[in-house]
Amino acid sequence: MKNKFYITSPIYYVNDKPHVGHAYSTIIADTLARYHRALGDEVIFLTGTDENSQKTVDAAQKASEDIVSYTDRLAAIWKSVWKALNISNTDFIRTTELRHRKIVEEFWKRIWDKGDIYKGKYEGLYCKGHEAFIKASDLVDGLCPDHKTKPEHLVEENYFFKLKKYEKDLLAFYEKNPNFVVPENRYNEVKAFVREGLEDLSISRQVQKWGIPVPSDPGHVVYVWFDALINYVSAIGTEKWQGHPADVHVIGKDIVRFHAIIWPAMLMSAGFSLPKQIAANGFFTVNGVKISKSLGNAIDPIGLVEKYGTDALRYFLLREIPYGEDGDFSEEKLKERYNADLANGLGNLVSRVMKMAVTNDVRLESGDFYSFKEWAKKDFFAKQFTEALEKFQLSRAVELLFAIPRDYSPAFVQYYATGDDSTMSVSATNLLIQEEEPFKEKDPEKRKEKIRNELLKLQKLAILLEPILPNTSLKITTLLRNNSEPKTPIFPRIS
Ligand code: MSP
Repeated sequence: MKNKFYITSPIYYVNDKPHVGHAYSTIIADTLARYHRALGDEVIFLTGTDENSQKTVDAAQKASEDIVSYTDRLAAIWKSVWKALNISNTDFIRTTELRHRKIVEEFWKRIWDKGDIYKGKYEGLYCKGHEAFIKASDLVDGLCPDHKTKPEHLVEENYFFKLKKYEKDLLAFYEKNPNFVVPENRYNEVKAFVREGLEDLSISRQVQKWGIPVPSDPGHVVYVWFDALINYVSAIGTEKWQGHPADVHVIGKDIVRFHAIIWPAMLMSAGFSLPKQIAANGFFTVNGVKISKSLGNAIDPIGLVEKYGTDALRYFLLREIPYGEDGDFSEEKLKERYNADLANGLGNLVSRVMKMAVTNDVRLESGDFYSFKEWAKKDFFAKQFTEALEKFQLSRAVELLFAIPRDYSPAFVQYYATGDDSTMSVSATNLLIQEEEPFKEKDPEKRKEKIRNELLKLQKLAILLEPILPNTSLKITTLLRNNSEPKTPIFPRIS
């Protein structure tokens, strides 16, 4: 029986096309999906679009387009961008699909039958940017501090979900599941928020017409967040979810409360299993400035992959920003890393080793090719790498493969110091080749043995690179199998 692994990215609003910030969360989810696939797991990797929002209505209007054709067009753009970025999602859900609507209705009914929905009057400030009510005390100069827009004053008849009722159950659940939210500081924020006391949640809108009608009261539509979270179940169906709920919801830090408080409470109320983990990445700015549509600084990831390739973008995003922290994106830095680590580092290593191998007619036998799973089981270095991935230490995982591991754990340093060169990173291997010059060895047998050793290291690196740099991993493995030099550098320098 294969191990199952179910991972999701956020589903994105369709008021615009993807920018590099969205690509970041999707690439993180893709890295873990690929890692689990490499381990031999049966992976479901879900992404999609969150379409039942007032933002969609406004954006369609602005584009002077009929809302249905607008959402079709935007969903197609999101799909094509993920394809161009080599994202390996196995499903793509749109919240306007029938499969989704049916499950939202089922959730509503179950929660209703449980007695957890009631009708009441809501008066408050609503921020369209957040698609959520906002407290007057959170405003800065009368504006939402994140979106710099004035919230609307709404007075409505709404249906409410008894979120407060689940305070104790949530806290008990957090107690039992110490890794439910990563990183830990985000988890602490969530727990503190719940401990302060929750308020019931308005889960319908009266003025909005676009959305999923409330079953039994179709004059209202379901609140977009209540609808959106359910996508994780509707994509696979309730039965499958019950058998194996999501292993990880990959999200950004801005939507942790929805995922770590509201979503588990909804599932508890509806009588469904809870996801195992919520992983929240930090946000990044572009050249020091928050990414925003109005500032027009939303970098299109397609432009970047056309110039640098998908692997280079992945490499940069995963390595540059320690997981969970905020960071900054600039093309200048991407180019620097590309030239230093990929062109000069990995690219050079591959050319050098393959040149030595071809010139000296040394090649690996079929028995020398180990799979990811085999390496992960038997090799100390590979274990360090997979451990880092499991703990969401993504930048560390990338560093392990690329940097000289001076500052890692004592066990690692010890292992490294023993000179077992099957443990070497890209930089360490390059350095040793420079120092030892195996191709200059006079004794032909010894020379062949040394070169074979380099090939073995390269094989391991290529395999471990699969979740991080999937295209490059495949390219190197193909060169090793064919025993050929790359015709052109695998990462040509970019000036
Ligand atoms: N539709 C909701 C999510 C519903 S999930 C059931 C939503 N969509 S969004 O289009 O605004 O995308 C939000 C996600 O995109 C963030 O949570 C984060 O993962 C990612 N990012 C958007 N901008 C980002 C940055 N500037 N930096 C890093 N991640 C960013 O919220």
